[in-house]
Amino acid sequence: MKRIHPAKKITGTVTLPGDKSISHRAALLGAVSVDGVTVHNFSDGADCASTLSCLEKTGADIRRKGTTLSVSAPSGLASPSSALDAGNSGTTARTLCGLLAGKPGVRATITGDASLSKRPMLRIVKPLQSVGAAIDGPEGGASLPLEVSGKRLRGATHVLETASAQVKTALLLAGLSSEEPTTVIEPLASRDHTERMLAHLGIPLYIDGHSITMAPSKPLRGGEWTIPGDFSSAAFWIVAAAVLPDSSISLPGVGLNPTRTGLLRVLERMGLAFSVERSGLWGGEPAGTITVHSSRLRATEVSGAEIPQLIDELPILAVAAALAEGTTEIRDAMELRFKESDRIVAVAKGLSALGAKVTELEDGWRITGPSRLSGGRVSASGDHRVAMALAVAALAADGPVDIEDPECAAISYPGFFSTLDRLTGGCS
Ligand code: S3P
Repeated sequence: MKRIHPAKKITGTVTLPGDKSISHRAALLGAVSVDGVTVHNFSDGADCASTLSCLEKTGADIRRKGTTLSVSAPSGLASPSSALDAGNSGTTARTLCGLLAGKPGVRATITGDASLSKRPMLRIVKPLQSVGAAIDGPEGGASLPLEVSGKRLRGATHVLETASAQVKTALLLAGLSSEEPTTVIEPLASRDHTERMLAHLGIPLYIDGHSITMAPSKPLRGGEWTIPGDFSSAAFWIVAAAVLPDSSISLPGVGLNPTRTGLLRVLERMGLAFSVERSGLWGGEPAGTITVHSSRLRATEVSGAEIPQLIDELPILAVAAALAEGTTEIRDAMELRFKESDRIVAVAKGLSALGAKVTELEDGWRITGPSRLSGGRVSASGDHRVAMALAVAALAADGPVDIEDPECAAISYPGFFSTLDRLTGGCS
């Protein structure tokens, strides 16, 4: 249990953990590159640790010193002697399945925790099977555990029904070992870290709108670079500084990839007072400093193409909406029901328990503010982003809030609560 006390204001500078999505990809690509990959500021979250332990079991050589990580696999990947446990991490389970499906001779079972074992896997299993992958699991591979038996795969054009960077990445990683081109066509643009990293490591991609084609004519080079701070972790401080009076937060070295910063664009039209100072490309990814000040937020509408660009920030956007003037509607976000928890339910429950006016919709929420949030007791529903979003709501409440299962924050941001204590001067 973590008790969060109301905060008068929040000020200071936060150095963020390395981006979780980019960290997973750096480790996976390092394990199939010629010379290995070394990255600085690798994510310290439990999800990326799951990816590393799975890769280690399949023969990758992993060296870690602080947040600097080197991954290579000089002898190639091999069958692990026990199951690969992806823990709570959908990115690990789905992308690793794609990577191993294209490795002839490698046999592995991918498992996960109770939450991950309920999440849908057919979205990767079906397209991978269509190019010759041998993957089996409950109800034809609808969920974990998945048994993967690596094969030489064909090239194909995959037309995705849902915008999902995990699915796109699984197919591109599988396509790396195919002799034919792989094309992935998304209905809407999702985060493009895989495309950027592949290009950075020397695999040319042809991108036309939402269509990405990869023809891996050359082996993947190695490289060394610094991973930007995780925008999804920054999002909690951005909203905290915006909704608390007399606040100001500076976030140096944070990722500014436009396929991730949808929250900033939505908050800008809600009235966010902020500035962005760019500091170039880090391993092909834009990074810079975001500074945010207390703001008077107004309601907005969010739907359609904006959703994939802020999918992980919707829980904290709901908190901003509860404290903004007017009625905000968030639609087309059905995917939230398939995350670490059913986030539509978990956020509606948590915010309603604190007195916010939240209506659960089939594909999002209708939220009317500004609400005067009260103290109380809430559950994070075992979901890291819900835990941190409710903690920010608690800072703006008029009494202490007890969060039942705060330790799940460590999935992406182990230092979240200690940073919160520091920024609020220990008053929370
Ligand atoms: C991720 C993609 C998104 C996101 C997840 C990380 C990734 O999932 O929600 O936290 O690293 O590719 P989907 O691909 O399911 O949308």
